[in-house]
Amino acid sequence: MSGNGHLPVLVEEVMDYLDIKREGIYVDCTLGLGGHALEIVKRNPKASLIGFDIDEMSLLKAEEKLNPYADRVKLYHSDFRYIPDLKIEFSNIRGILLDLGISSFQLDSPERGFSFNQDGPLDMRMDLRNKITAYKIINKYSENKLAQIFREYGELRQAKRLGKEIVSRRKSEKIETTTQLRRIVEGICGWRPQRGKIHPAAKVFQALRIEINQELKSLSGFLERITQIIPKKAHITAISFHSLEDRIIKHTFAHLAATNNSHPFLKILTKKPVIPSQEEIAINFRSRSAKLRAAERI
Ligand SMILES: C[S@@+](CC[C@H](N)C(=O)[O-])C[C@H]1O[C@@H](n2cnc3c(N)ncnc32)[C@H](O)[C@@H]1O
Repeated sequence: MSGNGHLPVLVEEVMDYLDIKREGIYVDCTLGLGGHALEIVKRNPKASLIGFDIDEMSLLKAEEKLNPYADRVKLYHSDFRYIPDLKIEFSNIRGILLDLGISSFQLDSPERGFSFNQDGPLDMRMDLRNKITAYKIINKYSENKLAQIFREYGELRQAKRLGKEIVSRRKSEKIETTTQLRRIVEGICGWRPQRGKIHPAAKVFQALRIEINQELKSLSGFLERITQIIPKKAHITAISFHSLEDRIIKHTFAHLAATNNSHPFLKILTKKPVIPSQEEIAINFRSRSAKLRAAERI
């Protein structure tokens, strides 16, 4: 995630774990505003970059940022899960980067509806071609389905009660804004601001975002497929911002590296996830929940 002034997170660690000094192609699966991508092409004149984002607005911003290096950059408005189907020189790939979740650009755009701190429509689509919005889920999904989403993707203790409350409220008026939803959550969870405590709406908004953008759906499958088509010595670096995603990355890497496999595909480079330093968190508060894991194709 990029933070204040769109700072890419763990940037030195990402450059090291990707081993960006080598000549060849680096793939940024989640370009965002192009912070990491820019560092790669700026630091290594022999690197070319292929970048993906499902958010067209982010892609346009990244394109602008990367313009001085346009001859070595190719960008796609696409979900990264389709990368294995592309006709690119997979044998020239040296590094794959995933920096999952939303960017500060998305979070700071109230009209996108990602932030419970800013009033906006209940949208939360990364890809505006997607037909499912937060509004549709909140106003149309059944009580049980809502509860399931809040429990599974938000790990919210009051998931069942919140599902019930939403269904009851929407009978009298449509729930249309981030503020309306935040207030309902605050009521059900008995929210009192407290230092160090996570606002329950953060969990609810995370859950909705994951459901709308199908954020967990193909992560494991993608990691497995891409690992099998990149050349030996290529590095994969993945940053996640919540435990559900981190768990998928950890388990998929472990499975691909398992020594009881007749042919392990990966060597894990990070025994424990790498996290930002206190200095980085002080400069870029949103980096605080980042976890980086890296592996090498063997
Ligand atoms: C945390 S930001 C990346 C920030 C970026 N590394 C930078 O330095 O600016 C994550 C980006 O991934 C995009 N994204 C999320 N899921 C995606 C997917 N399945 N395919 C492509 N892009 C995705 C989001 O739209 C968002 O712009």
